[in-house]
Amino acid sequence: MNTHLHKSPFLSLAVAALAFSCMITTAPPPEAATERSSDHDILSYFESALNSLRYPPLKLKNHSSAVQVAKKSAADEIARIARGSDFVKWIKFVRRAIHENPELAFEEHETSRLVRRELDGLDVGYRFPLAKTGIRAMIGTGKAPFVALRADMDALPIQEAVEWEHKSKNAGKMHACGHDAHVAMLMGAARILKARENHLKGTVILLFQPAEEAGNGAKRMIEEGALEDVEAIFAMHVSHLLQTSVIGSRSGPLLAGCGFFKAIITGQQITSGNSHHSSDLVLAASAAVISLQGIVSRESNPLDSQVVSVTFVDSRDDPNVSPTSIAFGGTLRAFSTASFQRLVKRIEEVIVAQAKVYKCSATVDFFKDSDSIYPPMVNNDLMYEHVKRVSTDLGGPANFQVVEPVMGGEDFSFYSEVVPAAFFYIGIKNKTLGSVHSAHSPHFMIDEDALTVGAATHAAIAERYLSERAL
Ligand SMILES: *[C@@H]1O[C@H](CO)[C@@H](O)[C@H](O)[C@H]1NC(C)=O
Ligand SMILES: *[C@@H]1O[C@H](CO)[C@@H](O)[C@H](O)[C@H]1NC(C)=O
Repeated sequence: MNTHLHKSPFLSLAVAALAFSCMITTAPPPEAATERSSDHDILSYFESALNSLRYPPLKLKNHSSAVQVAKKSAADEIARIARGSDFVKWIKFVRRAIHENPELAFEEHETSRLVRRELDGLDVGYRFPLAKTGIRAMIGTGKAPFVALRADMDALPIQEAVEWEHKSKNAGKMHACGHDAHVAMLMGAARILKARENHLKGTVILLFQPAEEAGNGAKRMIEEGALEDVEAIFAMHVSHLLQTSVIGSRSGPLLAGCGFFKAIITGQQITSGNSHHSSDLVLAASAAVISLQGIVSRESNPLDSQVVSVTFVDSRDDPNVSPTSIAFGGTLRAFSTASFQRLVKRIEEVIVAQAKVYKCSATVDFFKDSDSIYPPMVNNDLMYEHVKRVSTDLGGPANFQVVEPVMGGEDFSFYSEVVPAAFFYIGIKNKTLGSVHSAHSPHFMIDEDALTVGAATHAAIAERYLSERAL
């Protein structure tokens, strides 16, 4: 999960101190104003790429109490397999091997090789490569319905600060977001599901995906057929906010859509003695930065969380000559596609209009093609309920917690735009062990006791999904 939220009030304030207060007073566009000019059509590129893959909404059928009992015994059997001592040793081995050899986005060659070797050992068939290092494995009847589980494989450019036997052997790279555990847990699910293959009433697709932290690996996996025939998808992420093995999620918006912008303001060059003849870029940029603050504070529904942060201002530093161009930019986040689109539109309007006030011109780039933008993660209600029911059956009511949405982002949201999806957390917090650090910290570590529970949860979610579809 991409957790960093850029906030740099210092630069923005420094610039603000120089500026006139010159707020744009245009009323916010009416909510129905979804007419999109091609300039503002920033989300269309994931929509159009994915539209052809969209499936009709599906319904999970209700089930009788006799079936409920059968499901409960399946959950017990899955939990029993995951607790076996061989299984526990093996899943830790997989996780530690990956932890020692972290690989960055689209470079997960050894990780991918290890996964394939283990799949071969389990006699699980797969397609490779997707998105360079990605794998699409398949367990079950080979026939519909198809349900998918996804794990991300890439590490972060962080130097591990945890001293332990299986510390990262790759300088400057670390599994500081738990993707090593995600891969191990999905491998564990593969092993459980293979052992129960004759119980599967359809097909489970296991997606091992590259480049979640950078590069939108999910998007590329989808383009290369990851979701072929798939009608629902689930993914799990470790969380230091939940006690070891506790599952957490919520219905609806869970993680924000995220994007970046960079504005360039240009005008005529001047020397300070002749300023009345020319445009003042510093004032124009300052006014624009100030006006951007109003988009969230004055135009947005306060109950619909959004962020617009200017995180840098860049110019030359000659005090006698004003610059011919000034660049500034930052990040935007929102929990719905409509709000995200509105932010994009208003950021551009505000900057261009403020530049004009000072006889300058402006362009705003939203990096549509750079894979640094992704949609909000919104959990499908039915899929969320499914996760909740399965984890409660596995570990009792105390095993599940409703969590708050956060402003972090996840490229799993690309899958959720195509098929009904649920993203959920598994706790790895254990104060005795010291696994209390947030993802992306060099001190990040996990309580490995969560691994078997994660594997069992994945397996039970998939098996039961297929059983309920078959009713
Ligand atoms: C589903 O089953 C439960 C328990 O048998 C029942 O209470 C509920 O009304 C059913 N829901 C639907 C939509 O049939
Ligand atoms: C935390 O880890 C310790 C050491 O492995 C273990 O004894 C304890 O049961 C764990 N606590 C929880 C809440 O899982």
